[in-house]
Amino acid sequence: MPKSRILVIDDESAIRDSLRMTLEYEGYEFLGAATGQEGLALAERDAPDLVLLDVKMPGMDGIDVLERLRSLNDQLPIVVISGHGTISTAVEATKKGAWDFIEKPFASERILVSLRNALDQRQLRDENRSLKKAVEVRHQMVGESPVLKQIMAAISRAAPTNATVLITGESGVGKELVARTIHRNSLRSRERFVQVNCAAIPEELIESELFGHEKGSFTGATEKQVGKFEQADRGTIFLDEIGDMSAKTQAKVLRVLQEGEVERLGSARTIKVDVRVIAATNKNLEEEIEKGQFREDLYFRLAVIPIHVPPLRERPEDVPLLVRHYMESFSRENNARQKRITPSAMDVLQRYRWKGNIRELRNTIERLYIMTGGDTIDVADLPSAVRSPAGVAAARPAASGDADTAKAGTLREFKDSAERTYLVQKLRENGWNISKTAEAIDTPRSNLYKKLEQYQITQESDG
Ligand SMILES: Nc1ncnc2c1ncn2[C@@H]1O[C@H](COP(=O)(O)OP(=O)(O)OP(=O)(O)O)[C@@H](O)[C@H]1O
Ligand SMILES: [Mg+2]
Repeated sequence: MPKSRILVIDDESAIRDSLRMTLEYEGYEFLGAATGQEGLALAERDAPDLVLLDVKMPGMDGIDVLERLRSLNDQLPIVVISGHGTISTAVEATKKGAWDFIEKPFASERILVSLRNALDQRQLRDENRSLKKAVEVRHQMVGESPVLKQIMAAISRAAPTNATVLITGESGVGKELVARTIHRNSLRSRERFVQVNCAAIPEELIESELFGHEKGSFTGATEKQVGKFEQADRGTIFLDEIGDMSAKTQAKVLRVLQEGEVERLGSARTIKVDVRVIAATNKNLEEEIEKGQFREDLYFRLAVIPIHVPPLRERPEDVPLLVRHYMESFSRENNARQKRITPSAMDVLQRYRWKGNIRELRNTIERLYIMTGGDTIDVADLPSAVRSPAGVAAARPAASGDADTAKAGTLREFKDSAERTYLVQKLRENGWNISKTAEAIDTPRSNLYKKLEQYQITQESDG
């Protein structure tokens, strides 16, 4: 921790000397000024963390100095000291923004306590501000493509209403970010945002997760549980991967949307809830409806405001802004110097088919940031999968995985290609049943879905 720098403005040299001793002994850095003018000049030049200011001085009056210091920096804590301390000076100083008022003669302990409090308070405020800033930056939607602008416009129109929103798009395009942005800009922003990943929760548990249960309502229900809908009361519930919900659960969710009430498992009592629903999926729900996998009536209830987030490869205009955004945030997070990226490297990044979308871009930039030694990122620094035409080809694997394996140049390409072959094999063995396959290879369904998306595996592509 750097030493805090204290500026003492007092015309009495005895006071300055004794404060210098006290402050330096306590580990502060001391700056002294004998007049208001000198103090202001030092405040401007040396950016002190706190000012101890005498009120009665020849020349410029302390209250004037206080005002000038304030206009210089309204965050700077100022402790006023005075031998002629009348209540009115104290009141005036406080009105003009002094942190504290101390009368001469003072015990050095009194000064130290006031100083410590002011500095703590200031540090808290600074931390608070930078945390807030970090959170804002992390949740910022970056991009300038026409389609992203349309999405932002839809968000601002939808946010203040209670309308249900259905967000669709591939993995990693920013569906969750859209959902959070809507909540943050809504009248419910002070209430909770409760997220439920419908694909990650086992079928048998999803209902009690969503609606809660009473103690003893089923084997294993040893404690009562409050469901996510109840937890989200007055706030927003985000039903992620809604396309993976079973028919039975769909029926129950539909009921909540229609009636605005939930029933805990094992209870006959209905509980009113005031919840705004935002749902997301990377599936095509219209197709799911045709296949009989998704209820049409639920679809219409959810898609009051539909927002589709297209893949990054369909909006390459957003790539440069996103790259810069992530480069800036990584250097800020790591307190490292800002790196530069050459136009040709940017060009390659812009042409790459980001199958993992913004998540993949973010990870790529983070890796680049760590792995590139110099201050400039050029084409040669980019991962070979991004750089080489072969890498782009491997990003869109052909139907036959074996041929891909033979073609793979880098370890990463080989791994991807082997993983794809393995998945296709296991899916075939399990008759293309996702749940069965996920169970067989011991991975969450959501992960399997992501892989299918990533390698663009479909039953049809397995020709
Ligand atoms: N427009 C954007 N600007 C900045 N960051 C973004 C943008 N869109 C997405 N991101 C970031 O990309 C990452 C992936 O986004 P998010 O988790 O919202 O995607 P998703 O569509 O929900 O993905 P999945 O379907 O895999 O759950 C997050 O780190 C998110 O902050
Ligand atoms: Mg998501």
